[in-house]
Amino acid sequence: MFRLVVLVGCVGLALGGRSPNADVVEKLLRMNPQGRYSNNLIEDSLLDVPDLVAKYGYPVESHDVVTQDGYGLTMHRIPHGRDKNNKPDPNKPIVFLMHGLLSSSADFLLLGPGSALGYILAEEGYDVWMGNARGNYYSRRHTSMNPDSRLNQNFWRFSWDEIGNHDLPAFLDFIEKHTGQSRLHYIGHSQGGTAFLVLTTLRPQYNSKFISFQGLAPASFFTYNEHPTFTRLAPLESVLETAAFAMGLGEILGRNWCADGSGVDQLCDLTLNEGSYYVNSSMLPLFVAHTPAGASIRQVAHYGQSIRFNTFRRFNHNAVTNLATYGRLTPPSYDLSRVTTPSYIHYATNDLLVHPKDVHILASKLPNLQGLYLVDSKTFDHVDFIWATKARVRVYSRLLASMKAAEKL
Ligand SMILES: *[C@@H]1O[C@H](CO)[C@@H](O)[C@H](O)[C@H]1NC(C)=O
Repeated sequence: MFRLVVLVGCVGLALGGRSPNADVVEKLLRMNPQGRYSNNLIEDSLLDVPDLVAKYGYPVESHDVVTQDGYGLTMHRIPHGRDKNNKPDPNKPIVFLMHGLLSSSADFLLLGPGSALGYILAEEGYDVWMGNARGNYYSRRHTSMNPDSRLNQNFWRFSWDEIGNHDLPAFLDFIEKHTGQSRLHYIGHSQGGTAFLVLTTLRPQYNSKFISFQGLAPASFFTYNEHPTFTRLAPLESVLETAAFAMGLGEILGRNWCADGSGVDQLCDLTLNEGSYYVNSSMLPLFVAHTPAGASIRQVAHYGQSIRFNTFRRFNHNAVTNLATYGRLTPPSYDLSRVTTPSYIHYATNDLLVHPKDVHILASKLPNLQGLYLVDSKTFDHVDFIWATKARVRVYSRLLASMKAAEKL
């Protein structure tokens, strides 16, 4: 999925406070011991989100929620900044951040204080909440289904439709109950943007909760997508999904990927393609440690359907299941005329996954588009929205201005 890092992550048992792929990074450093990476960076690579945030002196909380369909999820929160005038305050404006495919809340923290969006927002006076989608490292539990079962893969039968339709309401309802505030900003990168569109089209009553929607390269239409791997695999989406479930591989690139005892864990292979102009290559172990953080094969298959059928619509099962699920033989499209939230889209010319022309299709269908901002750079790409140190000047300053503008609407 990511151009920068193609990683087959093999991860052992999760120990308290360790990042999703800490074992992979330790192996990488043993193979490559020239001391290229600072001790501070190595330490950051091995810590999980709560320990990482605490290390930098920020307050951090973890909150567990359970969705209507039984998935156990964890949100991370930075309730205020670390500067002494930035105190806890029940009236702070709230912002909710949602990561992309194969990622986690770590996306908004890895660049560190001063550069990562999560810390910047906390310093700007926001109460920062970050979701973790079902199936990732921090949200890998269910009231009755077992994510580690090889025989029964039912835990993994979800796509980003369920993330928008079930995970987001569980997060948002919890935040409202916990803080007493009924409105907040939503920032979503890539699939985090997709999930927002799913929520506000399937459950349009949620529109009234949002001060603004800030989409960072939000994924929806794939008419102009030219990504080499994606376009090759898209026609095969249903075959690949069926095969993956048959082999007990409903989870992709998570800690179950290399089965214990299969011997595959000896072959953990790391390919670094330093293709991104803006990403600081000295920080690669940090990104590898936290991404991929796990997802279901169906999330990828659903994007494959978007390419194959040239639509933005609900997941296509077989005809019988479609009839039972949607009351019709083919899945309905997401009705974007229902997205009445003030919407701001930030996108980039050199984005191979979310093509600028596809962003224009989305923008033309959003009824309350307030801003459409192309990053002023020919080389800025999909991962740079979260991994480029320059994102602060290229994107986040305009994002903050958009949020302030929406607060006055
Ligand atoms: C790249 O990251 C390393 C490690 O965090 C840091 O020491 C260095 O200053 C960074 N380089 C640039 C150009 O930001």
